[in-house]
Amino acid sequence: MEKQKVVLITGGTSGIGLGTVEYLLEQKGYCVLSFSRSKDHIEAAKKKLGAKAEAVCFLQGDVSSRQDCVQLAKIIDERYHRLDGLVNAAGIIKLGGIEKQTYEEWDKSMAVNLTSVFTITKELLPLLKKGTNPSIVNISSMASGRVGGSIAYCAAKAGLDAMTKFLAKELGPYGIRVNSINPGAVYTNIYVASGDYDQKSYDQWSKDKVTLYPLGRIGDAKKDLAPAIEFLLSDKALWTTGDIILVDGGISI
Ligand SMILES: NC(=O)c1ccc[n+]([C@@H]2O[C@H](COP(=O)([O-])OP(=O)(O)OC[C@H]3O[C@@H](n4cnc5c(N)ncnc54)[C@H](OP(=O)(O)O)[C@@H]3O)[C@@H](O)[C@H]2O)c1
Repeated sequence: MEKQKVVLITGGTSGIGLGTVEYLLEQKGYCVLSFSRSKDHIEAAKKKLGAKAEAVCFLQGDVSSRQDCVQLAKIIDERYHRLDGLVNAAGIIKLGGIEKQTYEEWDKSMAVNLTSVFTITKELLPLLKKGTNPSIVNISSMASGRVGGSIAYCAAKAGLDAMTKFLAKELGPYGIRVNSINPGAVYTNIYVASGDYDQKSYDQWSKDKVTLYPLGRIGDAKKDLAPAIEFLLSDKALWTTGDIILVDGGISI
């Protein structure tokens, strides 16, 4: 029997991260770990997964805390001794341009959406080097190139795309692939979590958006994003690295 791939998904309790957790469990061949902050969100994710939740290792911590990332690497080392896949899906947004966005929002966006990927990759690198066909998948956004919404978010995601390419070049000689999935609008909790929308207005926003998409709908985390993420994690993509892949229902055309 083939060895399972040990894969860590940051932000695996909601939205794109949780959709990917669910999808990987269904593919078999994956031992899935999640890393996120809120205990309540972990409990909610377990409830959503039902019996399948037992197969997931939910770890608690903040990707923007260096200390938490160091501790995370220690736990994975003790329990699994290696890492075959890392999906950097934890992320936040707070809407606003230069006039509205505060310094605090800018700093937080950089810390969670950009610096965290540097920290977590640095701390987990020794474990990835011990993995089999290791793969890092960064969840960026179409907003890295098609700007709008939040100045800090767009800048962080553009920085993340540059980091993806840099890491692909640097880590290629170790056999570690680094790619990015850049989604269009996906129905998740990100805007309700930020307080920019309440559930009702977000649902309306999501409905209003569909006319902009050539495929006539916004994305579903599990159906539309997770398969692309899994492809990059898998041995089907062994010669794919440094790619920034739009998965956006055609809105960028
Ligand atoms: N939804 C979209 O339309 C869209 C489009 C393009 C790109 N994306 C990107 O997709 C990724 C996932 O977003 P989503 O839409 O799925 O959002 P979501 O539903 O709000 O999920 C975000 C996840 O990240 C975790 N998280 C947030 N801050 C964290 C931190 N400091 N440390 C650890 N975990 C943290 C959250 O759990 P806790 O709050 O419990 O920590 C949650 O599990 C993000 O990088 C986002 O930028 C989303």
